[in-house]
Amino acid sequence: MKSVVILGTGGTIAGTGHDPQKSWQYRAAQLSVSQLVDAVPELAGVPLETVQVAQIDSKDMSWSVWRSLGQALQAHLAREDVAGVVITHGTDTLEETAYLLHRLLDGRKPVVLTAAMRPATAPDADGPANLRDAVRVVQEAARRGLGGVVAVLHRRIWAGGQVRKAHSCALDAFDAGGHPPLARLDEQGLWHEAITPWPASGKAGWLPLATEPPRVEIIHSHADADGWMVQAALAHARQHGPLKGLVLAGTGHGTLHQGLEAALTQAVAQGVAVWRSSRVARGGVNSREGDVFVACGELTPAQARVALMLYLLGV
Ligand code: SIN
Repeated sequence: MKSVVILGTGGTIAGTGHDPQKSWQYRAAQLSVSQLVDAVPELAGVPLETVQVAQIDSKDMSWSVWRSLGQALQAHLAREDVAGVVITHGTDTLEETAYLLHRLLDGRKPVVLTAAMRPATAPDADGPANLRDAVRVVQEAARRGLGGVVAVLHRRIWAGGQVRKAHSCALDAFDAGGHPPLARLDEQGLWHEAITPWPASGKAGWLPLATEPPRVEIIHSHADADGWMVQAALAHARQHGPLKGLVLAGTGHGTLHQGLEAALTQAVAQGVAVWRSSRVARGGVNSREGDVFVACGELTPAQARVALMLYLLGV
């Protein structure tokens, strides 16, 4: 039987607190990935390897952690004796990492991100079941000859290019912007349904992660959004290095305050790429005739930021 490699990056799944009754008071990223595996009896005897790639609260995710993750994935996915990889991650930026990996991986083997909404010390800790399920999905996907990036959370399989956090505290916290999960798992984490279609990977390869990331920021449109933030960003960039892109988290269907529109038009004139997404959870943003700011489809603003960085890197 081939191994499943589990790459640990921290998150609430590896979090601990002092008072199990106050599960919201804890520190993320305290337990090692091998401790997480040891806490799941159903994984005993399964051929697994654990690698601690990082140990962070995922709010602090960075390009350099993504680079380390990319290097580890590249090394382990190339091994003949490895069926696929599980990544334990924080829930807060999981959608960014999942989207990035979805764009980079070649899709030959399964890569499954998982996480938890409760720390390991909570009475209703969801990490052990999610980790068990993630390993089982890697094994089953490999058996079915499926590759690519998915997230396994709360007994659902989500497409890596679509998954996003949709609730700040519920155990069932993820969705795909209104799209259904690819499949559901049973109580034992076993997956019986067919998945059609299994998401195709972007196949961009690992090279983008080896380069320095272009600076791309997210700007929200809201009442009184008069472009002050954009002017501040442009002024800062003149002193401290180039601003390459801005993602608008617009109102509704990617609309924006007229003051902000004027400032972003000025940014485009200064060579900054401006892409347009929506701060609304579902529906996304379609292209319109005469668009100055590129529409981001169904990507969340955070995913659109990753997409724009890749675009600026030539991907
Ligand atoms: C994190 O994202 O690392 C902390 C929050 C979580 O995992 O739910």
